[in-house]
Amino acid sequence: MSEKKMLYVAKIKDGTVIDHITAGHAMNVAKILGIGERSSAVVTIAMNVPSKDFGKKDMVKIEGRELNPEEVDKIALLAPHATINIIRNYEVTEKEEVKLPKVVKGIIKCANPACISNSNEPVQPMFYVESEEPLSVKCHYCGYIMEKQDILKQF
Ligand code: CTP
Ligand code: ZN
Repeated sequence: MSEKKMLYVAKIKDGTVIDHITAGHAMNVAKILGIGERSSAVVTIAMNVPSKDFGKKDMVKIEGRELNPEEVDKIALLAPHATINIIRNYEVTEKEEVKLPKVVKGIIKCANPACISNSNEPVQPMFYVESEEPLSVKCHYCGYIMEKQDILKQF
């Protein structure tokens, strides 16, 4: 088999393949999806697989489930080039590239404890994406800058 055609992990029948994950982030994506000791989903994870576009990539394949919009948005923060493929009866029936919006609302919290978004006020956390790679977001309320490491702690 040529290297190009080689499959590192088996195809799945029904479920979701998250492809083109930034190398090194497969476990974080798994965490976002709640994959771990207490989940029973059939999951395959591939890391540092050669990729024609990005040198190397990670992949997460999860059987029997699709992702919700919040999960997709969280993945976009860590892996802005990821592709979400919905698989039905072995065929790719939908393919969506994640998209990191310019303004991120609700899915992450400000790391500044004194920020009004962390008080009891009914304020939805909101951040401006200053840079995608390396990730840097700025709180709308207090100006605090968060980077990937700060965000990973929340997932
Ligand atoms: N895949 C899978 N099980 C299937 C079908 C596809 O695990 N039954 C995986 C493929 O191995 C690939 C991803 O889902 O990692 C997307 O499949 P496909 O669109 O066929 O591959 P490409 O054309 O290489 O995708 P892209 O253009 O997004 O790189
Ligand atoms: Zn803040």
